[in-house]
Amino acid sequence: MDFLTLFAIYVVVVLTCIVLVCKYSGRQQTPFSIISNSIVKVVAPFTPKWLQRFSQWTMHRLFHQRNNMFIYLHILLEVAVYAEFTYEVFAFCREMDTTLTSLSVPYILLAIKTYFFYLCIKRDPGAVTKKKVAVQLHVYPYDRRLFHPGVSCPTCQLVKPARSKHCRVCNRCVQRFDHHCVWVNNCIGAQNTRYFLLYLFCVCAMAGDIAILTGDMLIHAVLRSGLLSASYIDEYGQQQPAGPLFVVQHLFLTFPRIVFMLGFLVFVFFLLAGYALFHSFLALVNQTSNEWYKSRGYVCQHCHPTATEDHLCSPAPDHSKRYFYSKGLLRNLGEIFFPLQPVQKKDN
Ligand SMILES: *[C@@H]1O[C@H](CO)[C@@H](O)[C@H](O)[C@H]1NC(C)=O
Ligand SMILES: [Zn+2]
Ligand SMILES: [Zn+2]
Repeated sequence: MDFLTLFAIYVVVVLTCIVLVCKYSGRQQTPFSIISNSIVKVVAPFTPKWLQRFSQWTMHRLFHQRNNMFIYLHILLEVAVYAEFTYEVFAFCREMDTTLTSLSVPYILLAIKTYFFYLCIKRDPGAVTKKKVAVQLHVYPYDRRLFHPGVSCPTCQLVKPARSKHCRVCNRCVQRFDHHCVWVNNCIGAQNTRYFLLYLFCVCAMAGDIAILTGDMLIHAVLRSGLLSASYIDEYGQQQPAGPLFVVQHLFLTFPRIVFMLGFLVFVFFLLAGYALFHSFLALVNQTSNEWYKSRGYVCQHCHPTATEDHLCSPAPDHSKRYFYSKGLLRNLGEIFFPLQPVQKKDN
């Protein structure tokens, strides 16, 4: 395979990954969904009806109904990265005397991450149920800005506790609702935000660590090949030093899978690090992403108590008191790791 073909495949794979990863939040208002919706609108007149219906059905199954597809995809990507790391990078690193301790870090991180991933999937995020709603109503006071007392969920037919929201994918109301995450096929709410945060940090650390080890390996490979001091004869018969482009091309051709993997990992790392920082910020200021979106004027339940995600308010509500409920960074964080329990508040 020549360099250009390989490079084209590489770009296509990376772009596909970007599209998949961007789509994972499953939210209505992400820039990506706005772009994809407009693409659908443009392409729609040229595609046959059955194809449209099929893709709508697929999208519905994938993003608007509970399913394990993204969990499988997640495991598949992980297996691919770890297999590649174990079979190619690991052996090379051993040869160049990287210690076994630093080579075992990715596996330790994998074990820790799997534990939090499992908890995110399995733990009840804090579903509002008929049996528990009476005590759940007392966990948080209504702020009368975003959450108003006495509003019922039209689907669950239960009074909505403050900070809760109906998840349309799981078809239930969830306490301190943050968002529905398709990667763990569960809502992120009062009881599992902590696991979600730890999970995000573990995935970042995993991607970052493997990327560093791989990068180190590639640098050694280049140094060892002596390419940096090599030169070639150009078409005019002149001697030219091999530039960086030459080195990149050499790496692509010698270690195509490793370079693929490194590109993917660097991308995943920056994307998830940004996402993890955003969620840490929210945890520190005692907000959920749901509240953050709402107080930015995307949805205002003040003028429409039963407004859905798609409802946009104009004019946008007042933003000035966005962190009104923060009791200090540490106490906010404490509440994430020790969520307020409905039972504790029973006798207030
Ligand atoms: C977080 O905000 C809620 C209101 O939205 C408030 O009841 C709660 O006490 C706050 N918790 C902390 C630790 O600030
Ligand atoms: Zn509901
Ligand atoms: Zn959900």
